[in-house]
Amino acid sequence: MFGTVLRYARHYPQRAITALKTDPLGLLETLQDRIVQEREYRRGPCIHDATPNWESRLHAALAISPPCAAIAEFHTEWPKAVAAVAAKGINVGPESFNGYNDGDGALVRAIWCLVRHLKPQNVVETGVAHGFTSRFILEAMERNGSGRLSSIDRPPLDPQMQKQIGIAVDERLSGRWTLIRGTSRRCLPGLLKRLGTIDLFVHDSLHTERNVLFELECAWRHLRRGGALVVDDIDSNRGFRTFTERHPGQTLLVCEAEPVRPDHRRFNKKGLFGIILRKAA
Ligand SMILES: C[S@@+](CC[C@H](N)C(=O)[O-])C[C@H]1O[C@@H](n2cnc3c(N)ncnc32)[C@H](O)[C@@H]1O
Repeated sequence: MFGTVLRYARHYPQRAITALKTDPLGLLETLQDRIVQEREYRRGPCIHDATPNWESRLHAALAISPPCAAIAEFHTEWPKAVAAVAAKGINVGPESFNGYNDGDGALVRAIWCLVRHLKPQNVVETGVAHGFTSRFILEAMERNGSGRLSSIDRPPLDPQMQKQIGIAVDERLSGRWTLIRGTSRRCLPGLLKRLGTIDLFVHDSLHTERNVLFELECAWRHLRRGGALVVDDIDSNRGFRTFTERHPGQTLLVCEAEPVRPDHRRFNKKGLFGIILRKAA
């Protein structure tokens, strides 16, 4: 534990001093998260078998017959969104935001289809960073003509990185968006209480089992029947596995990510994300 704190202070002395003065609680949370992450990651990856043809199975579960027009829409929008962020001089893809990955093409496409087909009124996500998932949720809502997105993101302690939060989101979409700055542990319970029922929840914040389970259990209590949970990076911790063992009987999909370049930290060089479709009745 002290080793983690000392390593952090040695690597980021200025950041630690500034945070100590301006946001001591935030610094404490960051250190606690790092301690948990280091302990959990020593166990190695959580390997799952990917679901073959996850995209067809997702659409079958949503009772959408092929071909899906929403997939075609996505393929037009995705390269434009990536190019727009890259044109601002920002690196896109694995490890491009403070060690975190941008949402990859497969994750964002799955979320796009869920929003286009489920037509959710209330979507909650944790983890914004450059904002690829946020942008595509909001754009899909715009095309649906309804829906609101509430996103929670703990701002990085580095002020330069803070300026990049949500940079992928067009100004024209911001009317449907509430961005809450803070940890999911502090902000998610209150947000869910205010919203009451949600239709879709996306976890893409801190990928530790402790944090994933906390978020998914909170979201589950508010998720309507027939709604969905999307969980990124399920190979990096045991959160998805433990949660699905605790809540059997739902439709589960384990999907291979499609990063813009190989992610060498992952057992399959891509990563995995999971989808849980809650039984309708
Ligand atoms: C993987 S990135 C999100 C990628 C984003 N969804 C996208 O599609 O581009 C993770 C983000 O979660 C934030 N984060 C880390 N720990 C958090 C926590 N405990 N609560 C909320 N956000 C957190 C990080 O600062 C970072 O912005």
